Amino acid sequence: MPRTPSSARGATILGWGTNLPEKILTNHDLEKMVETSHDWIVERSGIHERHVGGSTIPMAIAAGRMAIERSGIDPSSIDALILATTTPDKQWGNSAAVQDALGLRCGVFELNSACSGFVYGLVAAHGMIAVGLNNVLVIGADTLSRITDWTDRNTAVLFGDGAGAVVVSSCDGPGELVAWDIDADGSAGSILWAEVGGTIQMEGKEVFRRAVRVMVDSAEKTMAQAGVTGSDVSLVIPHQANVRIIQAACDRLGIPIERTSIVLDRTGNTSAASIPLALADALDKNRIAEGDLVLLVGFGGGMTAASALLRWGPIS
Ligand code: UT7
Repeated sequence: MPRTPSSARGATILGWGTNLPEKILTNHDLEKMVETSHDWIVERSGIHERHVGGSTIPMAIAAGRMAIERSGIDPSSIDALILATTTPDKQWGNSAAVQDALGLRCGVFELNSACSGFVYGLVAAHGMIAVGLNNVLVIGADTLSRITDWTDRNTAVLFGDGAGAVVVSSCDGPGELVAWDIDADGSAGSILWAEVGGTIQMEGKEVFRRAVRVMVDSAEKTMAQAGVTGSDVSLVIPHQANVRIIQAACDRLGIPIERTSIVLDRTGNTSAASIPLALADALDKNRIAEGDLVLLVGFGGGMTAASALLRWGPIS
């Protein structure tokens, strides 16, 4: 697979934003809805609570607005908007609705690679900048509460709603994207899927098993491309599905779990929003400094996988 050529025009993240619906659903709330317990959910997944009751377009607008404000760039200079989502509010026109609300005039598109979508979008944004654009807004937003079967304890305890966004801008020099990988295995599509208009269907154990494998594979490919190992990585921003998946992947990559950003205890699995939410949390807590190597790695329905290694630039 081709990787970022050293001659490519570089880009860097200038601003980030998040949005979570106000309503919080705790594990104790779930105990009243399905046969489960707070202790079981925490022990098997690490999740304590999640935000629900959102809508993809409004959450994307709020996160996008925050990212643009933080970047300090004029909204009129955004050249493209990528909305990664697996739960669009409408059949089409979701990213265009976000564009309009933010007062942007730029190309827009929706991208559906399930929980890997944000990393796919980030890589695409870097590619678009390499061939001439200056500023790309990348948003991951999902309303999984809308496609969750709240009577199915196998899935109801895992998912939540949210949005995260970044502004990626051209810069002098090579930029932040050191190496990346996108991958998919369509033969595993039947272990995690949803019909149009249907709810999430999942073979949890099999998803778990494959998730660890594809996260490790993708991360290893990206690190090998960059000529680095786990010990060179300052922080991992993993997809927030299950803390045990993150732990197992970290063990195999030789990276202590303390060097990951984890928000799933408060958010549950928010699909395309999960990696930008965890990235923003790390940035807000000053866990990322200029020059750090930051590894984003996700997996999702499809099954898709993606990773991106960033050499962090100056923080705005
Ligand atoms: O973006 C990707 C989205 N999906 C995922 O990442 C899911 C990946 N898979 C997982 O995270 C885990 O497989 C789960 C959290 C879904 C389940 O954990 P597990 O350790 O694999 O549990 P299990 O499926 O082996 O179930 C163990 C027991 C079963 O009972 P028996 O057969 O041992 O009597 C289940 O019926 O736990 C039972 N169980 C529950 N008990 C209480 C299943 N769901 C629940 C529940 N509360 N919510």
